[in-house]
Amino acid sequence: MKKKLSVIVTAIVVVLGVLFGASACGQVSETKKDTGSQTTPKVKETPLVGYAAIGPETSWRTANERDVQTALKEAGMEVVYMPNGEHSDQVASVDKFIRDKVSAILLSPVQASGWEGELKKAKKAGIPVFLLDRTIEPDDTSLYTAKIGPSNSWAGKQAANFINKTFPKGAKGLVLEGPSTTSTAAQRTAAWDATIHDNIAVVDSAEGDWTSATALKQTKELLEKFKDDNLAFIFAQNDEMGMGAAEAVEDAGLSDSIKIVTIDGTKAALKDLIAGKFALVIEYNPLFGEKTASLVSRVLAGKKVASTTTITSKVFTADNAAEALPTRKY
Ligand code: AHR
Repeated sequence: MKKKLSVIVTAIVVVLGVLFGASACGQVSETKKDTGSQTTPKVKETPLVGYAAIGPETSWRTANERDVQTALKEAGMEVVYMPNGEHSDQVASVDKFIRDKVSAILLSPVQASGWEGELKKAKKAGIPVFLLDRTIEPDDTSLYTAKIGPSNSWAGKQAANFINKTFPKGAKGLVLEGPSTTSTAAQRTAAWDATIHDNIAVVDSAEGDWTSATALKQTKELLEKFKDDNLAFIFAQNDEMGMGAAEAVEDAGLSDSIKIVTIDGTKAALKDLIAGKFALVIEYNPLFGEKTASLVSRVLAGKKVASTTTITSKVFTADNAAEALPTRKY
């Protein structure tokens, strides 16, 4: 009897040992298998970003908008790209983004003014707004989360410094400005005006539309109007207008007497710089998509970001343009 009992006890001990032993060494897997408390990972929603862009305006704009879209998609965001060349259409796009409850809005304002109402709506809806390249007037920083872009003031200052240094005894010239409704033209003009020396005379200026065709026509007219004034420079506020000016200067046989300065730093402009058609090209770096994606991701993760992020740019002369051209991305 006793023997039988000890066999039973031994068997029970062995069975219990196997059970506990298994659970002990498989503690992690058992615990995992047995506990119903393991939560299924929460599916992370893909952020939907509304991009109120400008669309085909210049090669700079094309490079900028492509870079932004690519970077946001690579950062795992879905982008609704709505290019509009008219202010009213851009406002309508932002309005739709708000109604669609997007995660964030990117905006490059075609026109600086007239944004208070729409941006107040976005703020009320709790949708962060990021201004890309262009800004709003009045610049109410409570109406957007961050603005990102190169500095127009820095660029305008570089242009004026170059003309000051090139003509220490003074000179006469022209300025081809971007559309006065844009923050870009206003900021470049303000920096130029604040930096240019008193002995540099801008005998006239023309409000362009960023295109070379308009700049060609305007420059032809101004060269004729001031043909007796020994014009020595033209400051064109972007590359394309500079190319229109260069064609008019060449047609008038004045390429050796008029120095042209432009802003943007596109491949075509660097080629014209190397060919001697331009005297200086100031970069206004459009490739800030990665930076934009990083700022949007941080804000969507509940983190704070700086209200202004300035993208660095450089100044090109014929020498460093030749070095830069082979690897130029835009
Ligand atoms: O806002 C930036 C300006 O817009 C660029 O200098 C011009 O080329 C673009 O169209």
